[in-house]
Amino acid sequence: MGVVEELKPIFSPKSIAVIGASRSPMKIGYEILQNILVQGYQGKVYPINPDVTEIMGLRVLPSVLAVKDDIDLAIIAVPAEFVPKVMTECARKKVKGAIVISSGFGEIGGHGKQLEDEVLQIARKGGIRLIGPNTLGYKDPIDRLDAAFVFGMPMPGEIALISQSGALCIGMIYYANGEHIGLSRVISVGNKADIDDADLIDYLDADRETKVIAMYIEGIKDGKKFLDSARRCTKPIVAIKAGRTPAGSAAASTHTGSLSGSDVVYDSAFRQVHVQRAYDVIEMFDFARALAYQPPAAGNRVGIISNGGGAGIMIADWCESIGLKVPNLTKKTMDALRPQLPSITTARNPLDVTGDARFHRYHATGATMLSDPNIDSLIMTCVHAGIARPREYVGAVIKLVEEKRNLKKPIIACWVGGPEIDEVVQELRVKNIPVYSSAMRAAKAVKCLYDEGRRLEAISKKKQARESSTK
Ligand code: ACO
Repeated sequence: MGVVEELKPIFSPKSIAVIGASRSPMKIGYEILQNILVQGYQGKVYPINPDVTEIMGLRVLPSVLAVKDDIDLAIIAVPAEFVPKVMTECARKKVKGAIVISSGFGEIGGHGKQLEDEVLQIARKGGIRLIGPNTLGYKDPIDRLDAAFVFGMPMPGEIALISQSGALCIGMIYYANGEHIGLSRVISVGNKADIDDADLIDYLDADRETKVIAMYIEGIKDGKKFLDSARRCTKPIVAIKAGRTPAGSAAASTHTGSLSGSDVVYDSAFRQVHVQRAYDVIEMFDFARALAYQPPAAGNRVGIISNGGGAGIMIADWCESIGLKVPNLTKKTMDALRPQLPSITTARNPLDVTGDARFHRYHATGATMLSDPNIDSLIMTCVHAGIARPREYVGAVIKLVEEKRNLKKPIIACWVGGPEIDEVVQELRVKNIPVYSSAMRAAKAVKCLYDEGRRLEAISKKKQARESSTK
């Protein structure tokens, strides 16, 4: 059986047992049961607890062995020392998949590591695939299944999120909600005793709802398995690899029992398989949003439009310093731009459309730049100067993105200003148009679309080579 089939009972279960379902609203076992019910899960739910007969109106059974029907997924939230016994019962019951929420395993070392190995052996013998231990669970905003212990669903969308940290996972969901970034599946992987990043990459690659895979990683146990999955993945992967320094690495070992490994090795491995590396949460979502909603860039030549010369210069600096080019425009483009500009402005790249630019100037110059064969992508910027019209700028960007899809050239928005303009550009976020509050973020987003173009090119070259060798 392939990994997609193996993980199906975990992520699309027909029945769920919550082991350690609690009558106390302060406990995790209560919260998990509540979250499953709140989201209106349509399958069968079996709360398991030997000391209780009813919770939230559901009949409670003392053990999974007392359940008559088949169980696809067991979510286990009992103290670590009871998990081997519970897992043994799950194996006898032929439960197909398990999520072990409980902490107190590999991350504490010594006895905890032994306990983790014991639970893993029981699961393996019983044919049970396992998420965790030491995990938050998962949230599926598309199919509305909340199998985690913190309240609230992410906004549905097309970016899958895998996180080795549970608390950070929740913080990232809230950040994404605030940025209007929708998520397809959110999976907290914890100690990764069994199901690891590689399994989930394979699973999410086959998931129709997911366009981009974003990951927070502290350590990877089986490097080859990860590289193989990342290499065969047809979708872009963005990853934060934390524990880069001795201090970060020491913290990762007690958090999820991870061995962070050499950062140089990770860096070169990621490059080899085209995993785009991000260095914090904001950067990870910047890249993921660009990858999900803009086409890859065919080349590294960037056109820059701004209503403030300084912003244009900074973007040009950032582009050139990270391997992009800010090329000269063709004569045809410069001739077309001149009548669209005030007489004080030079028709060049970066283009300063001046502080008083209104909808038409942004729109016309944007369209002209995009038609230049020397330009592969466009960054459109609005500085909130006194006479600026951010609302008209936003309208022009939206119109260009909608009108120029056929050109397959990325359009990225960038702004400089305070909360007033942040509120206005929210309209771009709502329409999934990548918009960034700094020159650096905008340039890096374009670079990531350029790198995605190189990844797709490499895949297509390999395919052609395979085809010609079989002819
Ligand atoms: N089968 C079924 N139910 C059982 C069993 C059993 N064998 N044994 C006990 N229970 C019941 C208990 O009776 C209790 O129900 P009650 O509250 O109605 O009496 C319920 O299960 C919970 O058991 P408790 O002993 O009360 O355990 P508690 O809820 O305090 O803690 C928990 C259990 C949450 C699993 C805890 O041990 C733990 O690990 N907490 C940390 C979880 C965590 O942070 N996970 C990782 C987050 S992600 C990250 O940051 C990497």
